[in-house]
Amino acid sequence: MMKIVTVLGARPQFVKAATLSRIIKDDPEIQEIIVHTGQHYDENMSEVFFREMQIPKPHFSLEIISKLHGEMTSKMLAGVEKILLDEKPDVVMVYGDTNSTLAGALAASKLHIPIAHVEAGLRSFNRRMPEEINRVLTDHLSNWLFAPTDTAVEHLIREGIDEGRIHNVGDVMYDALMFYKTIASQNSDILNRLGLTNHNPYMLVTIHRAENTDYPERLNLIFEQLTELSQNKKIVLPLHPRTKSYLKRDFSNSNFMIIDPVGYFDMIQLQTGCQLIITDSGGVQKEAFFNNKFCVTVRDETEWTELVKNGFNFLARPISSLAGLVESVWSKKFNSEGMNFYGEGSAANDIVTILKKNKK
Ligand code: UD1
Ligand code: UDP
Repeated sequence: MMKIVTVLGARPQFVKAATLSRIIKDDPEIQEIIVHTGQHYDENMSEVFFREMQIPKPHFSLEIISKLHGEMTSKMLAGVEKILLDEKPDVVMVYGDTNSTLAGALAASKLHIPIAHVEAGLRSFNRRMPEEINRVLTDHLSNWLFAPTDTAVEHLIREGIDEGRIHNVGDVMYDALMFYKTIASQNSDILNRLGLTNHNPYMLVTIHRAENTDYPERLNLIFEQLTELSQNKKIVLPLHPRTKSYLKRDFSNSNFMIIDPVGYFDMIQLQTGCQLIITDSGGVQKEAFFNNKFCVTVRDETEWTELVKNGFNFLARPISSLAGLVESVWSKKFNSEGMNFYGEGSAANDIVTILKKNKK
């Protein structure tokens, strides 16, 4: 029997973990213990994902909330360490690049417990991003590095990581979408609720990255341009609590629907129904591609470079180019035939097979 402790805490990690937890749940050779750090805690930032995606309830909830990254990470480190000492797992599993990821990896490494990192090798080469620090450190602590793309593998090799540890399994977020797409369309009525079923094209927007929210001028410019776009196009923006706390005024109007964050099923439906996506989210950039939508990314760089290189994703750089860029992409025809960057939708299965085969 292999015992895995999974450490997670932020919204994108619930989506990523769902696919693996579902497989592990039915595997008699693996026991999974889930530790929720509490990094995201609102009902619609956490609980809704466990419920809809049928992720097993966390065995431990640390309920750590802090505005300061050092304090947050250190409290998580201490909390996870205690659990690992008691549980003595064979593997600690972490996802992506949040503070919960780094805390889980650090706690395991201090106790010499092997670490599996899902979504390894992503790089923006911007060390001012907290995510870049988290992912570089986690990769260098990990024993199994599950990379989603060829580019991610190249980054890891260039950093001197032993090739035997690197596995390109594809992207677990693609697995998730493949599995939940039909269930989402049967269970979500968001398009009805928002009056979006009359073929009136709209764009879906999400904004939450620190490099956008924490600079008032930049955040204001983004929302001013969205307001400009809303003069002749509908916008739906599920607002991340971080962004909400930084916005100085209410930008919504009858064409610019600013709503609370939505569950995964609603989000998939909003992606399926929209004309175009504007985002600074890592996950949503890929989901745009999976759903055959162009994406305008509100950042100076992206980790998902294959989408930019192949003309599916456009960086709004400088930020003042956002509205013009959206206008120029709006009517383009999306064709991704023959393009496959993220695997076959079997990443979670492959991860489980590899973990069972070469326990190290
Ligand atoms: C975190 C991740 C980021 C990821 C994002 C996904 C880090 C450093 N950042 O950013 O990489 O893209 O999650 O969404 O780990 N808040 C609430 N309710 C919640 C959650 C957050 O009100 O359920 C508010 C709190 O005021 C909190 C702020 O949002 O201080 C920021 O939350 P935090 O988890 O620190 O960072 P995110 O911006 O969510
Ligand atoms: N998501 C969601 N509801 C929302 C916004 C995002 O379900 O209101 C999903 C989205 O579809 C994707 C994941 O959350 O699967 C991405 O998380 P987020 O954008 O918070 O983080 P990032 O990927 O940037 O780290």
